[in-house]
Amino acid sequence: MSPDKDAAVKPHPVLSDYYSNESERRQRVDDMFDSSAVYYDKINSIMSLGSGIRYRRQALLRAGVKASQNILDVGAGTGGVSLLCQEIVGETGNVIALDPSEGMLAVAKTNGVKNTLQGFGEHLPFPDNSFDFVTMGYALRHVTDLNLLFSEYHRVLKPGGKILLLEITQPQHPFRRAMVKLYLKRIIPTITLVFLGSAKAQRLMQYYWETIENCVPPKTILSSMELAGLSTVNRYVEQGIFSEYTGIKE
Ligand SMILES: C[S@@+](CC[C@H](N)C(=O)[O-])C[C@H]1O[C@@H](n2cnc3c(N)ncnc32)[C@H](O)[C@@H]1O
Repeated sequence: MSPDKDAAVKPHPVLSDYYSNESERRQRVDDMFDSSAVYYDKINSIMSLGSGIRYRRQALLRAGVKASQNILDVGAGTGGVSLLCQEIVGETGNVIALDPSEGMLAVAKTNGVKNTLQGFGEHLPFPDNSFDFVTMGYALRHVTDLNLLFSEYHRVLKPGGKILLLEITQPQHPFRRAMVKLYLKRIIPTITLVFLGSAKAQRLMQYYWETIENCVPPKTILSSMELAGLSTVNRYVEQGIFSEYTGIKE
């Protein structure tokens, strides 16, 4: 049976410790990001041991982000990826940072992101063929439907345009997988509580791990990209854990 374009592909099942249905999920996820926005950059730099920005820059350059492009950064959060895109595209390019969380976008503006817009990846408020690049850093797990997301990406990309999705994927090797689980499930939430003093941010980091552990496998993500009409879809893995998904609109 061939895959159905109209059937929803959820990035992970209902996580009943956090919400009981889809509409509750949307509210909870937005609340968690809103209330943890001021802690997000600190958590991120502790979690990545300072390598987060460097790695993101390498991934953007590897994917071919360059000067003068028009870029949409979806799930922009506090603007980690958007700021790097702004730096790479320069004065002759343009970057729009889109995110549903007002709290995260407020921090993004303070961080220096020039253009922010509240919205969801699954319903992009842009005409067809608008962007050279669509980027998404660690936000894929929070959308409602991968098929809808990728068909929107395909729609707003110009012909020849490209997407780059950054995601954390569980390592293949059982020992590495156990180490990553210990780190993200136990150590990071504990550090978040102890050093930042926020139970809400701790809850967000617990949720962060749950969504990684329950995320659909990479092949589901790749076939959803193909189903949306993207070509040359690919997954490059860095350090066994950082997945970079790319695809082109022909
Ligand atoms: C882990 S943060 C990633 C932030 C940033 N991209 C980075 O690289 O650090 C995930 C972001 O996804 C956003 N998000 C949640 N649901 C979304 C959706 N349906 N569409 C777009 N973004 C969404 C959240 O508000 C949050 O800011």
